[in-house]
Amino acid sequence: MSKKIFSGVQPTGNLHLGNYLGAIKNFVELGKDKENECIYCVVDLHAITVKQDKDQLKNNIRETAATFIASGIDPNKNIIFNQSKVYAHAEGSWILSCLSPMGWLNRMTQFKEKAGKDKEKASVGLYIYPILMASDILLYDATHVPVGEDQKQHLELTRDIAHKFNKEFACEDFFKIPEPLIKKNFSRIMSLKDGLKKMSKSDPSDLSRINLTDSEDDIINKIRKAKTDSSPIPNEERELKDRPEAENLLRIYSSILNQTLNKTLDEFGGKNFSEFKSQLAEILSSKISPISDETRKLISDKEYLDKILLEGASKAEEIAGKKIKEMKQIIGF
Ligand code: AMP
Ligand code: TRP
Repeated sequence: MSKKIFSGVQPTGNLHLGNYLGAIKNFVELGKDKENECIYCVVDLHAITVKQDKDQLKNNIRETAATFIASGIDPNKNIIFNQSKVYAHAEGSWILSCLSPMGWLNRMTQFKEKAGKDKEKASVGLYIYPILMASDILLYDATHVPVGEDQKQHLELTRDIAHKFNKEFACEDFFKIPEPLIKKNFSRIMSLKDGLKKMSKSDPSDLSRINLTDSEDDIINKIRKAKTDSSPIPNEERELKDRPEAENLLRIYSSILNQTLNKTLDEFGGKNFSEFKSQLAEILSSKISPISDETRKLISDKEYLDKILLEGASKAEEIAGKKIKEMKQIIGF
């Protein structure tokens, strides 16, 4: 069955291995299937829910688009664009905000994490961030949304909002109900320094993550310094319980090679981590360094990137512009 795919990544710098294995690698695979219609968005309106530096934001928008292309997303087959160029996203978000009860938003765990202790100081934008995400998805009638595990709750909210709109305005099937596509075993890549913390752009320690712009030497160094424990690699998955750092590295290896964790354990069970780490560093360098090199090359060609983003926005505008018009008619404008 052909799928309509929509997903987004924030241009907030430091794209990392978690973004790649949890989301972008999946974007590439879905984009290669000729049956699928894929739209990948650099969600710059989401980025400004926290303070951004103007010049850095500009660079990060291009860098995110460059990473998409360098990872293997073909801009001739798939739409790549940045969100702020298509007005319907913000307009749709306003309309959906008026429909979404605060109680639903109060349940969002990502807001609680991001706002931290002082919620009074968090922006209203950060609070309604998931509604903008719902607008992104629903404007394109997306049937499937590839994301990492941390976005699951936002996808559920999107589904609830879509149902509510369809019901409230008696327009059954107007909004399609999107399905999340979450890679079961690799949906949450953890920090290299703490197996209980998600690998994240905002971790102050650069050693906690493999950036998609890291050189081979950086990757080797970071894997060498990655936290493990003193026991050898087990033979069985259940023996990884309570060994989060060990499990994370073994999962990264399995994910990058598209193999099961069991297969990796068959290969390395009984061996020590130093041997495994050198293999992991080698595999990661061979997969990530070409992406870093290509991203760097693409970033230097601003004109090319701007052209891709502009063409993408014009195609996206056609789809989203039509949908927002229909939305406005339905609600009585
Ligand atoms: P963001 O950088 O927050 O815009 O995230 C972009 C995509 O990467 C989303 O689909 C996230 O769910 C995914 N993602 C971010 N961090 C991780 C991680 N540590 N493990 C797996 N997926 C992640
Ligand atoms: N909220 C997502 C994140 O932080 C990014 C995002 C914005 C998104 N709009 C989207 C993801 C629409 C999928 C679909 O990772």
